[in-house]
Amino acid sequence: MDSKSLLLAAKVLPVLVIERVEDAVPLAKALVEGGIKVLEVTLRSDAALGAIEAIRANVDDAVVGVGSVRTEAEWHAAVAAGAQFGVSPGCTTALADAVSKGPVPFVPGVATPSEAMKMAEYGFEVVKLFPATVVGGVGLLKAMSGPLADIKFCPTGGVGPANAKDFLALPNVVCVGGSWMVDNANIRAGNWLAITEAAKQAVEACTL
Ligand code: 3PG
Repeated sequence: MDSKSLLLAAKVLPVLVIERVEDAVPLAKALVEGGIKVLEVTLRSDAALGAIEAIRANVDDAVVGVGSVRTEAEWHAAVAAGAQFGVSPGCTTALADAVSKGPVPFVPGVATPSEAMKMAEYGFEVVKLFPATVVGGVGLLKAMSGPLADIKFCPTGGVGPANAKDFLALPNVVCVGGSWMVDNANIRAGNWLAITEAAKQAVEACTL
């Protein structure tokens, strides 16, 4: 599936930091149970690649991607571990060259119209606006929806229940990302029911 269809169907993309590989499968199952099936496992822990591998092998209903990708080597390692899509906070020319070649969808990060235009030149249909609320949020996306109407965004960074619908109502927003719905204390405590409940609330907060 291409990144646009994937994110349009998802509506909300949880940005996950998984500290222990053994938490990956119950966490993914809890999120799927709560209605969140597309998951971004960030490369911010040593367990990330193992977590991606475990989710891919054991949670059929989930679509697992890798986040916080910065280098070609990280991308190849994540794809080898089973990542079905990738996300980055920003994008260098080297990274764009690497991730635009293969068949696995990638959502590069941008913060300005020029960066969005550059990624569109590479053929990326959807880009991540990051850190969304800091660089202009809803106002910036509205302003870009005229001249850059074909470029679609997944705003992430500062998105939560209070503003998710404002973003999703924009014509150039296909999905919102964020960490708000997964409390890492619940992961550490194995409180999967609380995670399922929070996922349900996040889906509700992202349903127009
Ligand atoms: C990201 O990596 O996309 C952000 O850290 C998520 O931002 P948030 O924590 O404000 O949701």
